[in-house]
Amino acid sequence: MNIFVLGTGMTKFGELWDSSPTDLAKEAMEQSLKTSYLTAKNIDALFIGNMLSGILNNQLNMSGIFSKELGVYIPTLRIEGACASGGLALHSAVQSVLSGTYRTVMVLGVEKMTDHSAEDTTAALMAAGSEEERSAGATFTGMYALIARAYMEKYSVKEEDLAAVSVKNHFHGSLNPKAQFQKPITIENVMKSSKVADPLKLLDCSPISDGAAAVVISSELPTVWEERPIKIVASTIGTDSISLHDRTSFTSFSSVVQAADKAYKYAGISPADIDIAEVHDCFSIAEIIALEDLKFSKRGQGARDIISGKYSLGKGKQIINSSGGLKACGHPVGATGIKQIIEITEQLRGKAGKRQVKNARIGLTHNVGGSGSVAAIHMLKAER
Ligand code: COA
Repeated sequence: MNIFVLGTGMTKFGELWDSSPTDLAKEAMEQSLKTSYLTAKNIDALFIGNMLSGILNNQLNMSGIFSKELGVYIPTLRIEGACASGGLALHSAVQSVLSGTYRTVMVLGVEKMTDHSAEDTTAALMAAGSEEERSAGATFTGMYALIARAYMEKYSVKEEDLAAVSVKNHFHGSLNPKAQFQKPITIENVMKSSKVADPLKLLDCSPISDGAAAVVISSELPTVWEERPIKIVASTIGTDSISLHDRTSFTSFSSVVQAADKAYKYAGISPADIDIAEVHDCFSIAEIIALEDLKFSKRGQGARDIISGKYSLGKGKQIINSSGGLKACGHPVGATGIKQIIEITEQLRGKAGKRQVKNARIGLTHNVGGSGSVAAIHMLKAER
């Protein structure tokens, strides 16, 4: 695949009460254009990942809004796939470049979640669950709590073991100036935090966040390009039932396994070749299952591998969620999949500052929607 990641831009993630969705989008788009050495006139199309704007902001039909902020009215599409909206938007953009329809495309992920009560946002997020789950009063934390219980029973894993995910990701987030939370935490902090849905506690959960992230992809490098070229070498998606009760397993997501297996095969890359990955740790248990579905850890070993330091900066060789993940960097749902691409791009370019992973050459992103009903996997490779 001859698709390069050019410029990248993102806002800080967090409670950004002074910024509107268009302010956030504008900041991310402007930065990504500038770092691409391009102007808006060079962009052939805009793909937008966004989940909640219709429900929380009563705003749909976004093409004209964000094209205007970009400064050109060009073909624009909004893609929705719950928390995987960003990854799906990038996948669609990649297909559009591969088909030859467009040469240079911007992909924007944007979400504004904190202007509403946590209850309203939690209810809005449940639009990504099934009708039966909603009518049973389930929340995403509740559903991932069921997944956590099933995993803990099956593999004899304790709550303290889940907590190690959050400790690692908050440590990584403490090195990331764009992260919502930049304070390291301890296992004890996690264990003492308030229960949200047993066994998941506040510090097992990703937060409610605002933010935007944008990347420009192209089949060509601009003539003035001096950065290390980064290519997207695989872009795949997978789907499973929306309801947990229709699944055969609670401890693996078939959408992820389908997409990841295809991506490894397509790129000719094996799990051991991956130097860094950004995985969808919406809850601590989600990262553990991701590590196993992506075949970095053996089944039942994910938590133990995290505890051993295998995936931690400064200790391990295969670093997971150097950005702080959703847990510490924040999770403005539509923006997350694009932020993951930005983190991997910065790492592969050697420009990740204090959280730089030495000699990172191949990276993977894992972006999941709902309780695993949709997944997008991307693999990126440094060209030299
Ligand atoms: N991690 C770390 N700290 C968090 C946090 C999180 N996930 N969520 C909130 N906090 C902090 C706040 O910054 C605040 O700190 P302060 O007192 O120093 O200012 C404190 O905890 C209380 O925050 P508050 O906003 O009252 O929390 P809340 O109880 O309303 O919400 C959750 C906490 C965990 C319930 C909420 O973040 C949540 O629902 N997360 C899951 C979101 C989700 O489902 N996403 C989709 C995934 S599929």
